[in-house]
Amino acid sequence: MRPKIKVFKNRDELSAALAAHVAHLAARACAGQGRFSIALSGGSLIEIISSGLCSDPLRGSIDWSSWHVFWADERWVSSSSPLSNYGLAAKLFFSRVSIPRDQIHATDNAIKPSETAKDYESVLAKIFQPPEGRMPRFDLILLGVGEDGHTASLFPDHPVLAERRAWVVSVSDAPKPPPIRITMTLPLINNARNLVFVAVGPSKADIVSKVFNPQMQNQELPARLVNPSDGEVQWFVDRAAATESGRT
Ligand code: 6PG
Repeated sequence: MRPKIKVFKNRDELSAALAAHVAHLAARACAGQGRFSIALSGGSLIEIISSGLCSDPLRGSIDWSSWHVFWADERWVSSSSPLSNYGLAAKLFFSRVSIPRDQIHATDNAIKPSETAKDYESVLAKIFQPPEGRMPRFDLILLGVGEDGHTASLFPDHPVLAERRAWVVSVSDAPKPPPIRITMTLPLINNARNLVFVAVGPSKADIVSKVFNPQMQNQELPARLVNPSDGEVQWFVDRAAATESGRT
């Protein structure tokens, strides 16, 4: 299914619309299965989604007790590091809403990166309890996109793009610092019900136009490899990021 793109006047308008969309998916998931499973990415996305979801009256209308939060990728740093995706979300988001602490599933970066990845897979298995041979199916995964087309910590031309069995892997050579990261793989990401990319600002205009350019080769752009077999992909972009894709 081709991704849908929604263009917003500016970051604030996008933040409010994204938060409303997330709240809608959360309410639908809670009504359907009593739980909402969401995976966050790092970078500017964390501030964008936090400011939208923590604004009233939306914040007061959400049943936070049914949320389970994971990370699509995490830097292999201490949670107290300014580079930590968990650390930033804890400061901007979890400190302002009442998601039960044992339902916020951070990676355990105290062990070796490869073991952290395996440990995270066991957390996913425990919470989702997927049927034998099946992958966990997230209600929503929020993704950013780098100027090189990376998403999560899946970078262009990296061997991890070919991973088909593991749910979570570690990478030690990420071109975007820090180099050591934990990331969900494409098969796990593509098993989600809903995937939303967030791209804001003029620096993303080139990559957004490439992602939506049918002439581009997929392998060069991991963000284009996000193509769920049974799910929906949407792009939330502001006008500044849409200038080269003719969709402003
Ligand atoms: C990370 C992210 C990464 C990020 C993109 C976009 O941990 O670095 O998950 O994939 O989403 O690099 O980041 P910006 O939105 O900050 O440009």
